[in-house]
Amino acid sequence: MKKVMLTGDRPTGRLHLGHYVGSLKRRVELQNAGCFDEMYVMIADSQAITDNAYNLEKVRQNILEVALDYLACGLDPSRVTIFIQSQIPELTELTFYYMNLVTLSRLERNPTVKNEIKLRNFETSIPVGFLTYPISQTADITAFKANIVPVGDDQLPMLEQAREIVRSFNHTYEEVLVEPEALLPDNEICSRLPGLDGKAKMSKSLGNCIYLADTEEEIEKKVMAMFTDPNHLRVEDPGCVEGNPVFIYLEAFCKDEHFKKYLSEYQNLDELKAHYQKGGLGDVKIKRFLNQVLQEEIRPIRERREELSKNIKGIYKILEDGSKKARMVAMETMQEVKRAMKINYFENLSFLEEQEKKYEEK
Ligand code: TRP
Repeated sequence: MKKVMLTGDRPTGRLHLGHYVGSLKRRVELQNAGCFDEMYVMIADSQAITDNAYNLEKVRQNILEVALDYLACGLDPSRVTIFIQSQIPELTELTFYYMNLVTLSRLERNPTVKNEIKLRNFETSIPVGFLTYPISQTADITAFKANIVPVGDDQLPMLEQAREIVRSFNHTYEEVLVEPEALLPDNEICSRLPGLDGKAKMSKSLGNCIYLADTEEEIEKKVMAMFTDPNHLRVEDPGCVEGNPVFIYLEAFCKDEHFKKYLSEYQNLDELKAHYQKGGLGDVKIKRFLNQVLQEEIRPIRERREELSKNIKGIYKILEDGSKKARMVAMETMQEVKRAMKINYFENLSFLEEQEKKYEEK
């Protein structure tokens, strides 16, 4: 079977370090490893609209920001089809038919959606489109017959929902759709990078992010102000590395080479941790080191981003071409779906003949 990968992001803000370690970096690695026959990365604007219906300007603006982040991180449009969800009408069409295979109570059970409803104070009045977005996400995945969907663990309920719809469709109509599988980040730290303030997740709404487009000064300022171990008051005090975001970030980003280059008193992170735990290692020193490590990682991305942003027309062209290409694939699946559901009336001549005969017999 063909190996097809699809994933995407809602364009509601610029992408940050959490997105980078959690998914972007992986996508670029997968792209470069060449292990997929087809790769799709989607800017999920229709999904973003499900909770931003009265704020479309935000969604519109961020399509470009997300596209710049993608390309700056190294996604290559000659190998990955990058497209805009709303430009593929078949995705909406599929969603409408899949809706009949899902119950309201099933949607209300989705733990990720439940959590999002709470965060948005939607408890008393949930937009119908928001509640049903897992169905639309199934359309995104199945339109391209994607079997691998790289996502964070918060998206597992969406994949479960997608598999259920696929099974129900294939069972009720005809074997057309492909059951997708999630591809989770291979290390736990990367799947959920905490915020600068130590909160569970780096998130735009919590204001605790380092963005891929941040300047060198902004990154330094943010790193130097990071939360550490609140009980590590003096340099001599023993410090705690568990749950300490500076060490979690180091875990995610630093390599032994960084020690050689910037902090040669230590061979590796284990030695640094041991010193911190024993006492005698100040926060400023570890933050300075983290700053150097992060600057080295983000600098090339920022520089590419700046270069790319000089040609906005070119970015839109990439998105337009990608959307055209994606649409061809989605149209083909749509046709198969209609055939399976036997709602391809003008194509299905034997059905027409059958009806004719029925009337002749009367
Ligand atoms: N729900 C995803 C997010 O919030 C975005 C998304 C939309 C997606 N459609 C998708 C991810 C299809 C994977 C596959 O980031």
